[in-house]
Amino acid sequence: MTEMKSVSEATAVKAPVLPDAQTVTEVKHWTDSLFSFKVSRPASLRFRSGEFVMIGLLGDNGKPLLRAYSIASPSWDEELEFYSIKVQNGPLTSKLQHIKPGDQIILRPKPVGTLVHDALLPGKRLWFFATGTGFAPFASLLREPQTYGDYDEVIITHTCREVAELEYGRQLIENIRQDELLAELMGEGFADKIRYYPTTTREDSPKMGRITTLLQDGTVFADLGIEGGIKPETDRAMVCGSLAFNLDIKEILEGFGLREGANSEPKEFVIEKAFVG
Ligand SMILES: Cc1cc2nc3c(=O)[nH]c(=O)nc-3n(C[C@H](O)[C@H](O)[C@H](O)COP(=O)(O)OP(=O)(O)OC[C@H]3O[C@@H](n4cnc5c(N)ncnc54)[C@H](O)[C@@H]3O)c2cc1C
Ligand SMILES: NC(=O)c1ccc[n+]([C@@H]2O[C@H](COP(=O)([O-])OP(=O)(O)OC[C@H]3O[C@@H](n4cnc5c(N)ncnc54)[C@H](OP(=O)(O)O)[C@@H]3O)[C@@H](O)[C@H]2O)c1
Repeated sequence: MTEMKSVSEATAVKAPVLPDAQTVTEVKHWTDSLFSFKVSRPASLRFRSGEFVMIGLLGDNGKPLLRAYSIASPSWDEELEFYSIKVQNGPLTSKLQHIKPGDQIILRPKPVGTLVHDALLPGKRLWFFATGTGFAPFASLLREPQTYGDYDEVIITHTCREVAELEYGRQLIENIRQDELLAELMGEGFADKIRYYPTTTREDSPKMGRITTLLQDGTVFADLGIEGGIKPETDRAMVCGSLAFNLDIKEILEGFGLREGANSEPKEFVIEKAFVG
């Protein structure tokens, strides 16, 4: 009887639930407000390129402080990469920006999201429209073999305030073009399908202006030699930026006759917020 009691007491007291810890393996600072980092990948984690997970640190109150983050690495990679803003008074990123290799972060292994190939109907030309850290899901999709298997042309536009904020994306695309392992995975010449279209709005660069304006006045199509603009028969799009940006692009894409899709109902374009607020 005494023994029974002690067993039932033992089962009633649950072992402390440890957060899903992963180890930081690499950190790179790009500007005062942007950095990227890599962490170990949980053996059980499967995700589709373009999805996001919740990551974070233990807060001062001892509870996990978690935020949504797009996985910037492709689904086949051994490690997980993230591309992050540093918000000076941000509850998470004011601390996260100080992580170093060997530190641990929390990563909840439940990937979700709409920026996935499954949410689009088959097409010939795929557009990725990003502002700021909205580039992150496309850093994953640009290294995903299906992107090149499914499309003849992949156009990635990235609009930032300043030139330095484009650097993570610029280097990533340059590395994709030179990577022999990727060529082996995706097929020789795959990188010729990539058309990179970076623009800045507050610092001089070869292409100035919001991508929305450049789409509306036809500059993008003239620059890329695309006749007749975006067409629902051939063109597919994925969008990731601020709420205002997403709304503006949505209106433009709908103006071209594209419809917004979802995992459950694939159509011609999909949208995800790069941040809330
Ligand atoms: C689906 C989804 C995916 C996301 N993926 C990423 C990602 O890959 N990389 C990333 O850095 N953030 C991403 N975010 C934003 C992220 O969840 C946090 O908001 C961010 O890490 C800041 O956290 P914080 O606690 O420091 O500040 P918060 O309290 O979360 O944010 C404070 C304010 O900072 C601004 N802000 C927050 N995030 C950003 C951002 N990324 N770019 C510009 N301004 C921002 C907003 O004005 C916000 O109100 C994503 C958000 C969502 C909803
Ligand atoms: N990045 C910085 O240098 C910086 C510095 C201080 C504070 N912050 C704060 O950080 C937050 C996010 O800054 P962020 O630069 O990463 O993101 P952001 O303000 O969303 O701007 C990113 C890029 O998207 C463009 N953009 C914004 N809204 C758009 C729309 N509706 N249509 C088309 N393009 C649009 C911006 O152009 P425009 O320049 O024309 O808006 C900019 O080039 C903001 O709250 C900002 O106040 C950022």
